Amino acid sequence: MAIDRAAMRMIFSCQFWRMAICWTFALLFSYLRFHLRGRCLTQHPRFRFSLDPGGKIRRPICIITGATSGLGEATARAMAAEGYHVVLAGRCSEKLDKIIQDIMKGNESAHLNAFQVDLSSFHSILKFERSFKQWLLDSNLDHSVQLLINNAGILATSFKVSADGYDKMMQTNYLGAFALTNLLLPLLKKSPVPSRIVNITSFTHRCVTNLKLDCNIFSHSSSSEKYPFANVYENSKLCLLLFSYELHRRLYEENPLSNISIIPVDPGVVKTKILREIPLCLSQLAFTVLSFLRLLQSPETGASSVVDAALAPPNVSGEYFFGGKGRMVESSSLSYNAKLAADLWSKSSTLFEDQIAIHKDF
Ligand SMILES: NC(=O)c1ccc[n+]([C@@H]2O[C@H](COP(=O)([O-])OP(=O)(O)OC[C@H]3O[C@@H](n4cnc5c(N)ncnc54)[C@H](OP(=O)(O)O)[C@@H]3O)[C@@H](O)[C@H]2O)c1
Ligand SMILES: *[C@@H]1O[C@H](CO)[C@@H](O)[C@H](O)[C@H]1NC(C)=O
Ligand SMILES: *[C@@H]1O[C@H](CO)[C@@H](O)[C@H](O)[C@H]1NC(C)=O
Ligand SMILES: *[C@@H]1O[C@H](CO)[C@@H](O)[C@H](O)[C@H]1NC(C)=O
Ligand SMILES: *[C@@H]1O[C@H](CO)[C@@H](O)[C@H](O)[C@H]1NC(C)=O
Repeated sequence: MAIDRAAMRMIFSCQFWRMAICWTFALLFSYLRFHLRGRCLTQHPRFRFSLDPGGKIRRPICIITGATSGLGEATARAMAAEGYHVVLAGRCSEKLDKIIQDIMKGNESAHLNAFQVDLSSFHSILKFERSFKQWLLDSNLDHSVQLLINNAGILATSFKVSADGYDKMMQTNYLGAFALTNLLLPLLKKSPVPSRIVNITSFTHRCVTNLKLDCNIFSHSSSSEKYPFANVYENSKLCLLLFSYELHRRLYEENPLSNISIIPVDPGVVKTKILREIPLCLSQLAFTVLSFLRLLQSPETGASSVVDAALAPPNVSGEYFFGGKGRMVESSSLSYNAKLAADLWSKSSTLFEDQIAIHKDF
């Protein structure tokens, strides 16, 4: 293993050690928490729609973002096998086409469609919403969505600004999912059968002890040299979690019999391309250590926790799924802070409405 200069620079950064130590403890804590106080859903059978001709729905639709790699790809495969019409959303059309061909090779009767969307651009999300709705109208499917899986996410090690002027990691992991969820909510509410939103979050949210909702939260002002990437990643995942609980509260306050359930899921550690920006020798070292500790999972195993969440009975909502096998644990106490979640919601909505106004003529 050649240790290059980029790797040396990273080893001498606080952010690297935050990741190496704090994230490992957060992971171990999640497992410990499960063993002490966790619950398991395995007693419940997986929820399945009836696809009978006389049933309520012709074919359930599942949208997965970031379906071109890792967990997203594995989840798309699994949901296609469950009989869903899977909409794979990703930023690269060639990769999407390749994956669709690959899934079709294994199962010619799978129902799949690809849509190009860049979660770090509001314009792209609005464009996706429009073309998806048009496609739905032209199809012979029901005019609603049963499952939205907000999976797309990045771990960026340097500061990048999105086209909209926000921190690219924050926008991809959180703001993009916020916008997409809000745009698709009417279609989820219209579903004649129970529908669900699954957000992929991460144990790293446990490392955040204090989330400051100042003007810096979505757009970092620090120079790229000192980009606190580990903190920003943790914050983006905590924001997603706060939102999941807030949306759950809102939907059930609005209507206690709401047919939309909200499940944040954390797969644990999965061997994917998520560490692509970390120097290769360090990411390999991390995977070797985690594999030695038997904590490293394949994308297929990781995706099974996403599928558990996606197919949990309709009355399960607002629970935090962790590490597969139907396991449920409590997330960090900060993530249950309703005041913080409400503040974050209002800040994100304002930003979202501003962006809708900016792009309204499109
Ligand atoms: N791996 C883990 O241990 C782990 C643990 C906990 C949580 N997670 C979460 O799991 C999710 C999936 O990650 P992964 O591990 O499967 O990593 P991955 O292999 O890097 O996959 C990430 C996916 O997101 C897509 N993506 C990135 N930026 C995007 C954008 N702006 N617009 C649309 N799509 C975008 C990528 O598309 P391209 O193919 O075009 O790059 C890729 O398909 C992430 O949210 C991650 O935070 C992962
Ligand atoms: C193939 O796809 C169909 C339709 O989505 C599905 O019902 C079936 O279970 C899949 N078969 C396998 C072996 O994955
Ligand atoms: C998912 O996250 C988005 C924000 O990123 C939020 O609007 C939504 O409430 C969350 N839903 C679930 C099910 O976690
Ligand atoms: C939820 O579904 C049930 C059964 O399909 C239906 O009777 C009820 O009206 C739905 N609730 C809402 C809020 O749409
Ligand atoms: C959901 O319903 C099942 C029975 O269908 C019940 O056993 C279970 O306790 C319920 N779960 C929740 C969280 O209400």
